[in-house]
Amino acid sequence: MSSNTTLTVDNKAVELAVNEGTIGPSVIDISKLYAQTGMFTYDPGFTSTAATESKITYIDGDKGVLLYRGYPIDQLAEHGDFLETCYLLLYGELPTAAQKADFDYRVTRHTMVHDQMNRFFTGFRRDAHPMAIMVACVGALSAFYHDSTDISDPHQRMIASMRMIAKMPTLAAMAYKYSIGQPFVYPQNDLDYTSNFLRMCFAVPAEEYKVNPVLSRALDRIFILHADHEQNASTSTVRLAGSSGANPFACIAAGIACLWGPAHGGANEAALKMLEEIGTPDRIPEFIARAKDKNDPFRLMGFGHRVYKNYDPRAKIMQKTTHEVLSELGIKDDPLLDVAMELEQIALKDDYFIEKKLYPNIDFYSGITLKAMGFPTSMFTVLFAVARTVGWIAQWSEMIEDPSQRIGRPRQLYTGPTERQYVTVAQRG
Ligand code: CMC
Repeated sequence: MSSNTTLTVDNKAVELAVNEGTIGPSVIDISKLYAQTGMFTYDPGFTSTAATESKITYIDGDKGVLLYRGYPIDQLAEHGDFLETCYLLLYGELPTAAQKADFDYRVTRHTMVHDQMNRFFTGFRRDAHPMAIMVACVGALSAFYHDSTDISDPHQRMIASMRMIAKMPTLAAMAYKYSIGQPFVYPQNDLDYTSNFLRMCFAVPAEEYKVNPVLSRALDRIFILHADHEQNASTSTVRLAGSSGANPFACIAAGIACLWGPAHGGANEAALKMLEEIGTPDRIPEFIARAKDKNDPFRLMGFGHRVYKNYDPRAKIMQKTTHEVLSELGIKDDPLLDVAMELEQIALKDDYFIEKKLYPNIDFYSGITLKAMGFPTSMFTVLFAVARTVGWIAQWSEMIEDPSQRIGRPRQLYTGPTERQYVTVAQRG
């Protein structure tokens, strides 16, 4: 459905189409605005700009709603598993039992990485941040799997998708093992996706390793919660990189680089560091005061969201998962959790946070849970990347399959010097 609206520019009326989605805000189509008026629109940070049409994920930030292909996130996290969510995001429908078995089988058969990849890892310093390793190694996959880099071939696109979903946990576990000086553990394909990942991270060749089903289920749920989040910064990065025709491995590497930042995926690591810095509940008021101080750049990590101006629906599920994991591991009095709970309560009652609609986001809880499971903080964003890979791929595929797709090329408001003449270095004062 579309209607029209009129914009008056320099006393000239310009008719613009208004396109409606199935739910959510309509958009004013300004794609012909420059041709009609000679002006661009200006929207730094894309706060009012829809960069694409998409059928994958819907967020209502005011109501705290998150739907993958129409299904509420809490239902998927409660009843489904991560690979089912992957299927849903990629193909648009929940799989039948046969489709699910086939999909699981296909992903599982791609979990190993080319053995030559091991050499990439050994080139890094042991203290390299695992996100740095991930950016490099995922980008390097394009050098190993040439046979799935032709983006015009749907079959190659499908194989590349499978490879990335399957190999990300293997690469992530290798990055972790390398950092602690332990041998790489190869995938074991009779395990489910998440159990396999836990084993690759925590097993050692010298001992038998039994996967704890509570932890595996919790991590699987964390993966579901992080699987997609419509046009966030890293997904937009993947789309922009892909719009030039770059191969999917290179595009996902670009997404990983963007995810690394503390305002995005790096927030779970930053949130845990902040809780550690606060240390005890009595120091919370000091940090709240700093967060509110305009002259102090400090922010409460794990609070606030560009889109959610209500409780992040993922944070609610994450909070429950955190308690399940701590109880399974017998962690009753975790000082970080005490600080987190108290901080949450204080912030939720504080006028500053209420006025600015700053609620805890998913990263507020995920750090505590991952730490309890045994992951070091430097791995938190890597786990986010493992989960988000399917979202990036689904969004990238949607873009490639869209016949109206063109290279993404934002414009600018130029405020630099006007034209001036070059002066040789000898003549410069
Ligand atoms: N602590 C204190 N004040 C805050 C916070 C915070 N965490 N977040 C926002 N504000 C204030 C900010 O100072 C600003 O105040 P004012 O209007 O007086 O200038 C106002 O709230 C709006 O902030 P903004 O920076 O314009 O909002 P944004 O939509 O650009 O930023 C955000 C969203 C997530 C980057 C920001 O809330 C933030 O930095 N949060 C901490 C980092 C974090 O937890 N990020 C994880 C996001 S969820 C995971 C993901 O999607 O990757």
